[in-house]
Amino acid sequence: MKILIAGATGLIGSEILKICEEKNYNVHYLTTSKDKIINTTTRKGFYWNPKTQEIDKNCIKGVNAVINLAGASISKRWTEQHKNNIFYSRINTVKLLYKLLSENEHNITHFSSASALGIYPSSLDKKYKEEDDIVINNSFLGEVVKKWEEEVNTIESLGITVSKLRTGIVLSSEGGALQQIEKPIVFYVGTPLGSGKQIQSWIHVKDMARMYLFTIEHNLDGVFNAVASNPISNKTLTKAIAKQLGKPIWLPNIPSFVLKLILGEMSAIVLESQYLENTKIKNQGFQFQFDWIDDALNDIYTSRG
Ligand SMILES: NC(=O)c1ccc[n+]([C@@H]2O[C@H](COP(=O)([O-])OP(=O)(O)OC[C@H]3O[C@@H](n4cnc5c(N)ncnc54)[C@H](OP(=O)(O)O)[C@@H]3O)[C@@H](O)[C@H]2O)c1
Repeated sequence: MKILIAGATGLIGSEILKICEEKNYNVHYLTTSKDKIINTTTRKGFYWNPKTQEIDKNCIKGVNAVINLAGASISKRWTEQHKNNIFYSRINTVKLLYKLLSENEHNITHFSSASALGIYPSSLDKKYKEEDDIVINNSFLGEVVKKWEEEVNTIESLGITVSKLRTGIVLSSEGGALQQIEKPIVFYVGTPLGSGKQIQSWIHVKDMARMYLFTIEHNLDGVFNAVASNPISNKTLTKAIAKQLGKPIWLPNIPSFVLKLILGEMSAIVLESQYLENTKIKNQGFQFQFDWIDDALNDIYTSRG
């Protein structure tokens, strides 16, 4: 098996690379930074520039499947310029991949793309299944994810099976959301955010990486919620992390209006509530290694040492 990964140098991509190494899968990857190109016997990097629609077409030589993770981070300050970057970095990348696959001969049969839980409206009591996306979250992220998924769907017209993984908060020892959440806890100013009741659907990065490869290996098509089986409230998550770090949580919650003042529109990332169900992927035979938050955090903090 040879897989082309776009955005392989990030949090999830790095974990997928480790598993590919174990499974003896060859990897081609696309990067926007020439200095991230490292070639080994099993891994080959290719430069692309989605802004100018430049790509090295050799990247699809011998490739059977594509994993698309590329996109600018949503955790940088949401200036108008960065909002454009968040949106167009996702749309232009898929457009360029579509162009590449439609204009060149290849043996690619599967395209597995990142998507995100932000497509679902915020709700404290609804439990979202994949088919519940008729109502899209009326927010910046909701709109980005909707357009992103629509762009990814164009790949289907090339006779390629497409899967989209609506990803929850990815927990990893290497950075990402956990690093942001734990910072104040480390400095004894950790506290639940807003009411603390908002539901956080999370997934361990190891399960996330395994799920991408599972969709390819089983040629799955359609949308899949990529979250562990037991989403938790923000308060429970904050306490679980504090327990791992051996720190107390003693301050009162930071009220939502304060977070909105500080973070503006970006406060949606921490204040919105989305409970996602994962039965669809489990019914396909996928088994989560980490279904409970304490097990996931134990593994992460143990591996950090
Ligand atoms: N981590 C999460 O909690 C989470 C949750 C929901 C959804 N997701 C989605 O899953 C995908 C992967 O997540 P991740 O955490 O691995 O992200 P990440 O660590 O930020 O990595 C994303 C990769 O995208 C590439 N990239 C960045 N800006 C780009 C641009 N302007 N144009 C093209 N490529 C660009 C970068 O690769 P190069 O520098 O090599 O080009 C980067 O390594 C993302 O699209 C994200 O939206 C993640």
